[in-house]
Amino acid sequence: MSSISIRQLHKRYGDTEVIRGVDVDIAEGEFVALVGPSGCGKSTLLRIIAGLESVTDGDILLGGESINDLAPKDRNIAMVFQNYALYPHMTIAQNLGFSLQLNGVSKAEIAVRVNDVAQSLGLTALLERLPRQLSGGQRQRVAMGRAIVRQPQAFLFDEPLSNLDASLRVRMRTEIKALHQRLRTTTIYVTHDQVEAMTMADRIVVLRDGLIEQVGTPLELYDAPRNAFVAGFIGSPSMNFIPGRLDLNDGPHVMTDDGLRFPLTAQPNAIHGSRVIYGARPEHFVLDATGRGLSAEVVVVEPTGSETQIAVRLAGQDVITAFRERIDARPGDQIHLLPHGDRAHLFDADSGIRLN
Ligand SMILES: Nc1ncnc2c1ncn2[C@@H]1O[C@H](COP(=O)(O)OP(=O)(O)OP(=O)(O)O)[C@@H](O)[C@H]1O
Ligand SMILES: [Mg+2]
Repeated sequence: MSSISIRQLHKRYGDTEVIRGVDVDIAEGEFVALVGPSGCGKSTLLRIIAGLESVTDGDILLGGESINDLAPKDRNIAMVFQNYALYPHMTIAQNLGFSLQLNGVSKAEIAVRVNDVAQSLGLTALLERLPRQLSGGQRQRVAMGRAIVRQPQAFLFDEPLSNLDASLRVRMRTEIKALHQRLRTTTIYVTHDQVEAMTMADRIVVLRDGLIEQVGTPLELYDAPRNAFVAGFIGSPSMNFIPGRLDLNDGPHVMTDDGLRFPLTAQPNAIHGSRVIYGARPEHFVLDATGRGLSAEVVVVEPTGSETQIAVRLAGQDVITAFRERIDARPGDQIHLLPHGDRAHLFDADSGIRLN
């Protein structure tokens, strides 16, 4: 396996620049999740690394060597696509062995490697079938097997689980993670799924509009998002954003236009009176039975068993809260909420940049 470095990468299609100067270093053996809104350039970036798209400007280094001019088959990088892209007329065994055959590996060795991979992915009984005779999850596993059998320097996954149902997705997520722990192959994994990114990745890269917004471990992004965009993108349900003015008198806090007070513990890096956004994650509210705290109207109650999510109307906005305990509340009830001042995030209202 090898490190991957991306240096000042730009990609233009005609007049539109879809990758606008991306720099990132991925260590040997690291598992990096790439997330961002639809159209931000995730697939383009993977396809450039795989060699399926040309570079407009900048460099891609694999193990420190530029691979810009190498053909895809010479890069020793395996990509797994969302739609699996299996060859429909080939058996599973042929699908698994095809790339080795192209690279001139002997028939005997192909047989050994295909059998090993089939065994490790539970595909042995399916080797003589055609792709259409497999379930979605089995096809997904073949697509992974096809990548693994090449023993590549790096894996690129483009939303590999998005076509699977929820329970299979959870199982495959665990399998991919276990596979990575076993093989330690450098991996870049594109996903729309928050939980996948948070649970699988050593680090997450947040891409927006062809630029990196932040790179960090899942908890760094969760606890210290650099701006409101990352704050809103990482975490599910999303962070609540409450606009107001910073008030530094009488303990720093944010005052909303209707006079509600949201506490801050630390002194923020902004001036009194500036327009700000107070960010509070759903789990950063305490339910206050004594009737102090902010009065909120219950809109929806969702008990999940392990916790209770309550959507409320607060400060003229829909706010999602989540509590570890079971709460007996009904739509229309008034409840009282105290936001955790020491967990609050503060952002500039115009730039979205973090202020605390
Ligand atoms: N061959 C192409 N020609 C022109 N524009 C393209 C081409 N391929 C992609 N684009 C544009 O580049 C941008 C990035 O596309 P890309 O497929 O990388 O997005 P993405 O982040 O993978 O989105 P999604 O989450 O929807 O898969 C989009 O605006 C897309 O329309
Ligand atoms: Mg894509």
